[in-house]
Amino acid sequence: MTATIDRALIRAARDDIDIFAREIARAPLWPHQIELARSPAKIRAVCSGRQAGKSRTLAVLALHQAFSVPGSKTLVLSAGEEAAKLVLASIAELLSSPLLAGAAVEENKSRILLSTGSEIVSAPASTRQVRGRSIDLLILDEANFMDEALWTAAKFTVIARPGSRIVMASSPWTRDHFFHRQWQIGRIDPTARAESFHWPSTASPLVDAELLEDFRKTMTSREYAREVLAEWIDDQGAYFTASELDDNTADYALTPPERAYGQIAVAGVDWGFNDSNALVLLGVLDDGELNRGRHQNELVYFLPWLEHHSKMQYSQFIDRIATVARGYDLAQIISETNGVGAMPTQVLRNTIDRQEWTSTRSRTPVFPVTTDNRRKTSGYGALKVLLQQGRIVLPRNPELLKQLHALTYEQLPSGAVKIEVPEHAGHDDLADALMQVMAATESGMQSWRPDNPRPRKCEVLTTTVGTHIPAEPRCWDLPYALIRSRGRDKGESWW
Ligand SMILES: Nc1ncnc2c1ncn2[C@@H]1O[C@H](COP(=O)(O)OP(=O)(O)OP(=O)(O)O)[C@@H](O)[C@H]1O
Ligand SMILES: [Mg+2]
Repeated sequence: MTATIDRALIRAARDDIDIFAREIARAPLWPHQIELARSPAKIRAVCSGRQAGKSRTLAVLALHQAFSVPGSKTLVLSAGEEAAKLVLASIAELLSSPLLAGAAVEENKSRILLSTGSEIVSAPASTRQVRGRSIDLLILDEANFMDEALWTAAKFTVIARPGSRIVMASSPWTRDHFFHRQWQIGRIDPTARAESFHWPSTASPLVDAELLEDFRKTMTSREYAREVLAEWIDDQGAYFTASELDDNTADYALTPPERAYGQIAVAGVDWGFNDSNALVLLGVLDDGELNRGRHQNELVYFLPWLEHHSKMQYSQFIDRIATVARGYDLAQIISETNGVGAMPTQVLRNTIDRQEWTSTRSRTPVFPVTTDNRRKTSGYGALKVLLQQGRIVLPRNPELLKQLHALTYEQLPSGAVKIEVPEHAGHDDLADALMQVMAATESGMQSWRPDNPRPRKCEVLTTTVGTHIPAEPRCWDLPYALIRSRGRDKGESWW
């Protein structure tokens, strides 16, 4: 920290986060953010809508703790690796303020060490991160999506520690969860132990009438209630219930293409216009003997990788898909052609065709599909069956789970089910890309699981419905299980 900052300012900034944000970090907080930041409660919980200013507040809180309490440890846990990286990036951005130049003595993807001797660690949420650590400030980002076991661990190691504090923020997800319970405690009766805050998107001065109108157009009314009004919504009319989804998630590690080394998967692509471009990979889980007791020889699926990019240009996204196709061995890429997808699908096909393939790898076919109601019903229907059977494990990705939960259905007089989407292209890119890959699954497909288990060295996670998955799962090398292609566009010849 530069020696030129006068001591009085430093002292004032230590004591008051508002002064710290304004004068030192040069990122003033809005009134609702200051209210949370100044609260003396040991556990603070904020339930927030989109764009209300959560991430900025959490970043300032972490940095202020590191600045004002030398030698302190702050742990920021996020739902997913990508989110964890973003949190650290926003802290690093604050560190670029002139008065904080030189404050970081060490900075990498998961940890920032400051000249005060304080440390900020950012990691994907897992119980292991919390257990046995001495933590002065624990920040949980998208807490409502985290495993209950994490809260149990936090209670023993963080809450029990004198002086240590917890801040949790989340968009609302399920009520039967520690985040909701904790939020209610601090809401009904704020005390020195707990205080809670409610930030609908309109809490932010930047969220104006135009943006709200945009939200309204691209969201179903259920989504609007949750994402903008920050209200917990129930399962009324939902095609997937929240517990159907939650009970089949696990905190397993996604495998980026550069570490996939030719694992076999199938990819689904959704091209965005208003929303973002999304890519979802589906693989057969290499679970050895793990699920033999529960599923005998039936396959269990999982998502080894997914990504979505807001407002990324098609050409850039196409290059990104080509990169993923070099890391993974993709049995097929299923790409939506209606809406805005026709042109990018064609370019994607040309790009993938030009890609050089090694002799051990087969070429990746790109299949254009038209998404109509029949395709949606079939894709989402296949997903529902697998969820009910406990035969698919989803990553704990808040965006994916919320999008799936937002899908509503209508029972037609014929008895058929129609899956509804918002009138305008909505925030359902990840859900749609997942729906596309479901066309590659085959209900009766089996493969022999070994029946004399070798002891496993790796950590094994278990979903609420009892399906096991390694913490670092790999795809089972069963290409024939992923080449089915329901509902391909007419005129597409079988290869
Ligand atoms: N105090 C502030 N002053 C000025 N701009 C701010 C402030 N706080 C947040 N912002 C801006 O408002 C926008 C939303 O903030 P932020 O990303 O912190 O919100 P969020 O609740 O985390 O949003 P999301 O729902 O997208 O996760 C960002 O563009 C951010 O830069
Ligand atoms: Mg955020």
